[in-house]
Amino acid sequence: MSMARDRISIFSFQYLSYVVIILSICSLILFLSWSHYCNYCYSPYQIIIAQKQNQPINLLSYPFAWNHLIFSSDPPKRFLKIALFVKKWPQKSHAGGLERHALTLHLALARRGHDLHIFTTSTNSSISNYSTDNLHFHFSKPTPGGYLDQAVVWEQFQAQNSTGKPFDIVHTESVGLRYTRARYVTNLAVTWHGIAYETIHSDIIQELLRTPQEPQTKALAERAIKVVEEVKFFPNYAHHVATSDHAGDILKRVYMIPEERVHIILNGVDQEVFRPDISKGKEFKQRHGIPDSKSLVIGLAGRLVKDKGHPLMFEALKQIMAENSTFQDSSMVLVAGDGPWGARYRDLGPNILVLGPLEQAELASFYNAIDIFVNPTLRAQGLDHTLLEAMLTGKPVMATGLASIVGSVIVGSEMGYTFSPNVTYLKKAIYDLSDGGKEVLDKKGQVARQRGLQLFTSTKMVAAYERLFLCISSAKYCEYRPSGS
Ligand SMILES: *[C@@H]1O[C@H](CO)[C@@H](O)[C@H](O)[C@H]1NC(C)=O
Ligand SMILES: *[C@@H]1O[C@H](CO)[C@@H](O)[C@H](O)[C@H]1NC(C)=O
Ligand SMILES: *[C@@H]1O[C@H](CO)[C@@H](O)[C@H](O)[C@H]1NC(C)=O
Ligand SMILES: *[C@@H]1O[C@H](CO)[C@@H](O)[C@H](O)[C@H]1NC(C)=O
Ligand SMILES: *[C@@H]1O[C@H](CO)[C@@H](O)[C@H](O)[C@H]1NC(C)=O
Repeated sequence: MSMARDRISIFSFQYLSYVVIILSICSLILFLSWSHYCNYCYSPYQIIIAQKQNQPINLLSYPFAWNHLIFSSDPPKRFLKIALFVKKWPQKSHAGGLERHALTLHLALARRGHDLHIFTTSTNSSISNYSTDNLHFHFSKPTPGGYLDQAVVWEQFQAQNSTGKPFDIVHTESVGLRYTRARYVTNLAVTWHGIAYETIHSDIIQELLRTPQEPQTKALAERAIKVVEEVKFFPNYAHHVATSDHAGDILKRVYMIPEERVHIILNGVDQEVFRPDISKGKEFKQRHGIPDSKSLVIGLAGRLVKDKGHPLMFEALKQIMAENSTFQDSSMVLVAGDGPWGARYRDLGPNILVLGPLEQAELASFYNAIDIFVNPTLRAQGLDHTLLEAMLTGKPVMATGLASIVGSVIVGSEMGYTFSPNVTYLKKAIYDLSDGGKEVLDKKGQVARQRGLQLFTSTKMVAAYERLFLCISSAKYCEYRPSGS
């Protein structure tokens, strides 16, 4: 009797150890294969597991970018009254990232039937006619520093909140509504387009690139204090939207904001405007006299200023043009945008065409005319729109290896190139891409387009925000079923 029991326990002990060993080997193999393929260790593998199990997800604690989820394109389940605080409402194409985001998102929400009240600073130029009755502007005079006058906008907001129905949701682009007032609003979301912690990387790069003639700035020393200040005041905002995976991670770990209050929604751009169109590209090349003998057309776009990396790009191109006649004969660089570096690029000779700022439709043709888009930016803030536009147009992209870019946009060499911000590395990257040839670039461009369609369309972004706003205004919208909404 006792012997039998001993045998059973020995047997089950052995059995158990086999199971443990087999399980450990399996998990080791799984881990190795997963970590090998995972570029940024937010594993799509985990996303797939979560979605496959067909378990409902609580959206508020969903750890990945909401752009990975599929929301129905049906009309919204409920129409919301939304307040938006934004320092400046954009005028046409001259808009930075934050303003572009504000316009694209809120115009689309208004067109979907939501009621938008926009609290912003007054401008002298008139606001475009957006052919919707759902956008209501409340202007106020900016403070001497150019910010929203908090006392005035708060009064305007309160008046609107007690007219008709109260606001379902309050959205502020960055500190449009400051924490001193935002702290009283529970149904609020703030979208961060740059946080001080990310900027430290830019400060370090700028300091490394500083020539001995330039004075050292205090930016680097002061930035850490800024981070501490932000860590202290950010928690006053109820919900946070990070525009990149990296920023989301920082908000949770460094800024210590509880996970269920941090949501990642990557920027999106209009996929109807930015899409492949070979004839537009051809026509653009003809109009600007770009000969067919140029087998590599490199494109740059945006503000041509120092912190967008133009001194670096200028120096790299200057050296390449001087040392390599093959490159000179076979390549062309198109520069869209304006700023102090425009004139310097012009001086580099006939291989560089400076086009000035382009309207949106013209910019779409520009992307179609190039073989690769290069963004040498040193600004580690927000998620750059130009890269997303180029990807949706089906072009490969090359950019500085900043965390938001390698973590959310150019996550692998299948869709482009990244480089460390110094002239040596940038030159090498440019030679690498020109040696690869058109076929390689076209292939990467196709992968870029697929990724763009999957994540970076404005439709994706708008659907994610709409759902977040619904969810903040009423918990019943916070449950997501993998089969679709
Ligand atoms: C707007 O116009 C007024 C006078 O019409 C002028 O005083 C003010 O400086 C202008 N503001 C801007 C931002 O151009
Ligand atoms: C704006 O556009 C709508 C329709 O497109 C039109 O009915 C309305 O008159 C326009 N408003 C102004 C001020 O031009
Ligand atoms: C807006 O109005 C509602 C209803 O009166 C009120 O509950 C809410 O606190 C108001 N919001 C703010 C931020 O004052
Ligand atoms: C010059 O550029 C071409 C590509 O345009 C590249 O294949 C070649 O290796 C370069 N030559 C040198 C000396 O760097
Ligand atoms: C770029 O970095 C490499 C490696 O650190 C260094 O050898 C090189 O001098 C740097 N180039 C420039 C132009 O600063």
